[in-house]
Amino acid sequence: MRRPLIAANWKMHGSLAMVDEYLAGLRGPGAEVELVLCPPAPYLERMAAALEETRAAIGAQDCSAERDDGAYTGEVSARMLADVGCRWTIVGHSERRRRHGESDKLVAAKFAAAQEAGLTPILCVGETQAERAAERAHVVVIGQLEAVLNRVDVENMGRMVVAYEPVWAIGTGECATPTTAQEMHRLVREAIARRSGSAAETVRIVYGGSVTADNAVDFFAQPDIDGALVGGASLQPGSLLAIAASAAARMN
Ligand code: PGA
Repeated sequence: MRRPLIAANWKMHGSLAMVDEYLAGLRGPGAEVELVLCPPAPYLERMAAALEETRAAIGAQDCSAERDDGAYTGEVSARMLADVGCRWTIVGHSERRRRHGESDKLVAAKFAAAQEAGLTPILCVGETQAERAAERAHVVVIGQLEAVLNRVDVENMGRMVVAYEPVWAIGTGECATPTTAQEMHRLVREAIARRSGSAAETVRIVYGGSVTADNAVDFFAQPDIDGALVGGASLQPGSLLAIAASAAARMN
């Protein structure tokens, strides 16, 4: 059985004071669940150092597509993230695709740069409300996935997480139903299976979009939902740990 993954996406929230308070409230998760915390970049190193002896790992919210140092003002490379203790990075979050104009091609380049630096990318895919209404949700999501799969070596295909995050469910309190999410997760797994059967078996596909301590358990009851990417509800360690506990229960 795939070990559930719970990733906390703080987005642009936090302060040094919040980091310290959060860490004080964060008990280490049980071994059944993998916990990844993705604070804003300035707090990565402090959190990585504080969590070194625990099972929780640190991830970035984004990385540059540029591999080598150079004149790229404002960019942070995957190598630098690894250097300060990150083991993961989110790529292709819908807020970056929409607000920063990130194309499938750029996301694929970021994904490859992350893997090359030894980070495990969490690739976000998801359709907008208009795309779902036009019955294009599957085409959009699988298209976003394929853009990345076309660039990844087969042997690296298992070294990733896919996060299905319908754009209309992010930060809105209106999440997908577990069955709607499961249907998309199944299609994502099938698309990966067309490239590598073994990668499809092991790859974790997590759901994101208004996941809370109250609704998480229903998602984790689905066979192809292997965890969650949590935004708003991850800002309190208590609710994040409650979501992780729901995921752990799936393993028992
Ligand atoms: P949300 O965000 O849980 O606040 O909806 C999820 C995300 O954007 O990753």
